[in-house]
Amino acid sequence: MQFELVREVPAKVDLLVEGVTADAVPKDPTVAAAGFEGKEGQSVLLPGRLLVGLGQSNGGVSDDVVRRAAASAARIAARCKHVATTLPPSQALAEGFELGAYQFNKYRSKAKPNRIERVSVVGGGGARAAATLDRGARIAEAVKLARDFVNEPGGSLTAPVFADAIQEIAEQSKLRVKVLDEAAIAKAGYNGLLAVNKGSDNPPRWVELTYQPAGAKASAATVALVGKGITFDSGGLSIKPSDGMIGMKGDMGGAAAIVGALSAAKDLGVKVRVRAFIPITDNMLGGDAQRVGDIIRYKNGTTVEVLNTDAEGRLILADGLIAASREKPAAIIDLATLTGAQVVALGKKVAAVLGNHDGWTEQVRNAGNAAGEPIWPLPLWKGYRRDLDSTVADMKNIGNRWAGTIVAALFLEEFVPDGQPWAHLDIAGPAWADNDDAEVSAGGTGFGVRTILELLRTYKRP
Ligand code: BES
Ligand code: MN
Ligand code: ZN
Repeated sequence: MQFELVREVPAKVDLLVEGVTADAVPKDPTVAAAGFEGKEGQSVLLPGRLLVGLGQSNGGVSDDVVRRAAASAARIAARCKHVATTLPPSQALAEGFELGAYQFNKYRSKAKPNRIERVSVVGGGGARAAATLDRGARIAEAVKLARDFVNEPGGSLTAPVFADAIQEIAEQSKLRVKVLDEAAIAKAGYNGLLAVNKGSDNPPRWVELTYQPAGAKASAATVALVGKGITFDSGGLSIKPSDGMIGMKGDMGGAAAIVGALSAAKDLGVKVRVRAFIPITDNMLGGDAQRVGDIIRYKNGTTVEVLNTDAEGRLILADGLIAASREKPAAIIDLATLTGAQVVALGKKVAAVLGNHDGWTEQVRNAGNAAGEPIWPLPLWKGYRRDLDSTVADMKNIGNRWAGTIVAALFLEEFVPDGQPWAHLDIAGPAWADNDDAEVSAGGTGFGVRTILELLRTYKRP
């Protein structure tokens, strides 16, 4: 999709998308008959024109509203090649068009891909406006990459396949990449990853990515990212019920968000150094699967009694946090589709952030909210730590029924040294969508890509 700034509506455009605020609805009998009042989410199609509602203007229209309106327009205009729009030229506009046009068609024999090739943004604007459109389009590209990974079935995106794909992207995106196979993982002592992988016929992988900003000093701050890469979560021997397993090909959404974001780091001119740690396996129930009651000994000495093999994400993230912490980065953030409790608490649109450093969790939250990915804090309340006490090991991997998201985060905190700023983003709800809704498409959403990129852009040492 190409974006161009133009002064007037081009003569031969297939459709003109007009943003309409509630106080500026055209006095037109067709518009009135369609019940169009300029409310957010409303639209009406007229010959050659699509009116999309922007709600009350209150002196301006927010990026979120523009992004949603553009995305809805892109779906309605799916059969058009060239559209023009009076929506304001912005990053959100480009993101909206690109993401609203996204489809995962790899396995359809009769695909009808979105046809939009050119978007003429009417009203002019200088080099800054053009740059902001480019930025939005580039970010959307990164989100789509993450969506493609999440949407890929678990049977085809095994750990080795995922790792190979990440390696290829790293090479294209000028990232340094290191992939560990099973023997190297054993040598490195990533025992949580090995334990979860025991039930699988596919070997695990461990991927490290490095983004080095051009001209950065050796002393430049490093942000470490850790991503949950469970390519399919059956639950293991603590097997999930059938309904709960649907969507579990998306249990690598955290890993995918990191790969998506870093694939665009160079193009977007990210200025901080980034290290990413991505443990990858599926969670299966083969003949030598990890058993309930097994104990994992982590390389930092911590022992964990596995009382539910379905609480596997924290087991592999522990290795990631140990590895990230060893390098003493300025800050760590992990992204994971970690708990069903997160979805119960905050629903399908809002992610949870928890952490050991208020300034850093606040930065993460602000980045998400600015990028159109809502994030809300939950308390890392120490009083629940005893729920993880084990009778035989340092910790067990589950608590009781309650506060599952907090207890999972308290588990992770045990692998982060005191004084190391760390934030945990539980994206179990928003990483996966059941329906198309504005810029979100059914299936993998790529949630987290925009937050990471905004966080890296606005980063301040916590
Ligand atoms: N991958 C799931 C969490 C999940 C649930 C993600 C729903 C997306 C949608 C995770 O591995 C899991 O199974 N968590 C368990 C933990 C429990 C056994 C303590 C859960 O939340 O039920
Ligand atoms: Mn699980
Ligand atoms: Zn899982």
